[in-house]
Amino acid sequence: MKPFRLTSLFISLALVLLILPVCAQVRQPNTEARIDALLREMTLAEKLGQLQQLDGESNGNFRPEHLDLIRKGLLGATLNVRGARRTNQLQRVAMEESRLKIPVLFGFDAIHGYRTIFPIPLAEASSWDPSLAERSASIAAKETYAAGVRWTFAPMVDIARDPRWGRISEGSGEDPFLGAAFARARVRGFQGNDYSATGKILACAKHWVAYGAAEAGRDYNTTDLSEQTLRTIYFPPFKAAVDAGVGTLMSAFNDLNGVPSSANPFTLTKVLRGEWKFDGFVVSDYTAVTELINHGVAANEPDAARAALSAGVDMEMVGRLFNRHGPQLLKEGKLTQETVDQAVRRILRIKFRLGLFEHPYVDEANEAGSLLTKENRAAAREIAGRSMVLLKNDHETLPLSKGLRSIAVIGPLADNQRAPLGWWSGDGRDENTVTPLAGIRAKVSSQTKISYAKGCEIEGGTTEGFAAAIAAAREAEVTIVFVGEAKEMVGEAASRSSLDLPGHQMDLVKAIQATGKPTVVVLVNGRPLTIGWIAENVPAILEAWMGGTESGNAIADILFGDVNPGAKLPVTFPRAVGQVPIYYNHMNTGRPPEANNRYTSKYLDTPWTPLFPFGYGLSYTQFKLSNLRLSAQNIRPDGKVTVSVEIENTGRRTGDEVVQLYIRDIASSVTRPVKELKGFQRITLRPGERQHLKFTLSSEQLGFYNREMKFVVEPGDFKFFVGTSSEDGLESGFTVGER
Ligand code: BGC
Repeated sequence: MKPFRLTSLFISLALVLLILPVCAQVRQPNTEARIDALLREMTLAEKLGQLQQLDGESNGNFRPEHLDLIRKGLLGATLNVRGARRTNQLQRVAMEESRLKIPVLFGFDAIHGYRTIFPIPLAEASSWDPSLAERSASIAAKETYAAGVRWTFAPMVDIARDPRWGRISEGSGEDPFLGAAFARARVRGFQGNDYSATGKILACAKHWVAYGAAEAGRDYNTTDLSEQTLRTIYFPPFKAAVDAGVGTLMSAFNDLNGVPSSANPFTLTKVLRGEWKFDGFVVSDYTAVTELINHGVAANEPDAARAALSAGVDMEMVGRLFNRHGPQLLKEGKLTQETVDQAVRRILRIKFRLGLFEHPYVDEANEAGSLLTKENRAAAREIAGRSMVLLKNDHETLPLSKGLRSIAVIGPLADNQRAPLGWWSGDGRDENTVTPLAGIRAKVSSQTKISYAKGCEIEGGTTEGFAAAIAAAREAEVTIVFVGEAKEMVGEAASRSSLDLPGHQMDLVKAIQATGKPTVVVLVNGRPLTIGWIAENVPAILEAWMGGTESGNAIADILFGDVNPGAKLPVTFPRAVGQVPIYYNHMNTGRPPEANNRYTSKYLDTPWTPLFPFGYGLSYTQFKLSNLRLSAQNIRPDGKVTVSVEIENTGRRTGDEVVQLYIRDIASSVTRPVKELKGFQRITLRPGERQHLKFTLSSEQLGFYNREMKFVVEPGDFKFFVGTSSEDGLESGFTVGER
């Protein structure tokens, strides 16, 4: 063959290769047209089948009935079915044996990890570094995908101002600005830019909405909130998730202003679809549709199905009312065909976007090697270390020397492999958890004698173990006491009326402290606790939270100075449970607290201030803020102002600081909080190093919802604060509008 003919052959081949994918795209009808075609084909039973999600067995198996339902096209999604072999097996039935070959969507609660468990979300929020949450979510997505699951019921973006509520551990704390940043990051981590990509999964922002405001902190309880508060405090993290492209939302259990969230047209349709243009689907929470009967807004099952579907719930989790009563409701004209078709359309749209029709299966050979890899464990360790908050460190008690002769490791959380995983620990296994005792042993030199004594149980039990613990402490140079909560005390259905350390743990700390030996308390818990005595009497406290699979290593990294703590509280720590709800962004009242004025807003028996404020946390080094500057003293309502500040590491170690910007609108048409977080940056500085930081404030940060629920910036004076917690820092001000 002559060379020129060879060249032209190559050119034509290249052209064909280039054009082929374009042709394929052209030939592929667009998603909405494919949905139209399916809707024309589907029977009513098949349509209602798409709206049904059923639970698998707790070990991840599907139920025999699922096979039959899927074969008949009557099951759109499952939850808790996991493992690549099982999901492929079920999927094969959908793709090969059902009439219309609509793939099944497999969902699971991979909230803070699948097999490699990361710190609980409240802990990750303490990092004030959303990129870490994005990273852990993307690792969780990879593991979850490898196990055949394409949809996680996360992120949980409920604002929580009440630590009695066990689910405070699943979210990002009390602040809407911080919460929105973490919501965005987690959606990006799970879904990426395109959730049809291998290793990416569909996210679900939950629980829409105001579930975290349950009265008295009692799970599932009523919420009653003004539209002002909803829009200002509870909506922003959901809005951020929607703007970040989240594919699904979950409707909450709670009653909201008299209309339960799972039958609430204002939140499900007016706000979500109307104002925010969300075009994905809403799944109800577990049996939330049936519970409309208990709420008293539905007289019976058909009524409940009608209320939820017509308000804007598309898929029913576990309950079967849509399927059981849909046909009759349509016949009686109580539900329109359009409502059903719309719900089916939204679900199919997301299945198409997820690429499920094109790639219904996962690679079974990939599963085992993708879980709990060395890299994933290393990431979990790093993220846990960046999520732990140093609450107190008098006389530089910490970090400890690795060359200590002897250390006593005490407490019921010192060698516990279960609690650090927290609630919703995915497919995590207790036996993979590195406990603090194991982490400390791996860290210190072989010359160091480590004695361990449990002291007491987390809850209940006796004080019989105190003697051995005290003896161990007496013989050691330093004692580290690990106290906190059990896994079962946090998460769903885990409300507490006391925020004290459960059982005999506080007495154990007191007994150890009484030995006079230097004592460090490490808290392993999922909510703020009332630890006033410890804060007053023990020189060093580390809030380690429930730090996941690698928590013991991460704790040891901090205790012995390999990692310098830089996290900050995303939630206020009260002094007493009676102060709850206590949060930093409260209104001023007409009578703000004054020490010497009885008739001001405070308590007779407890200070009004928190034990540890929002945004608070220490480091092994020190920082100094200076040179606060403003780009303008006066801006227009649609203008911008840039705040700049200098930060210097004035201590002797490299460390992280989180610089926080808060504003206060001095006078406006509605009352505004005394402080609101509007910017933050976590930075690392070497000793002596300085950095200039800039924050921009524009209408998005300066505005609020006025009496007509319009988002406005009103002229007037603003104060702002730049600090390292919500209670310290530099202060200045500017004016919006004419002076
Ligand atoms: C919880 C949800 C969870 C669902 C599925 C419910 O009880 O409230 O957060 O996603 O169960 O497991």
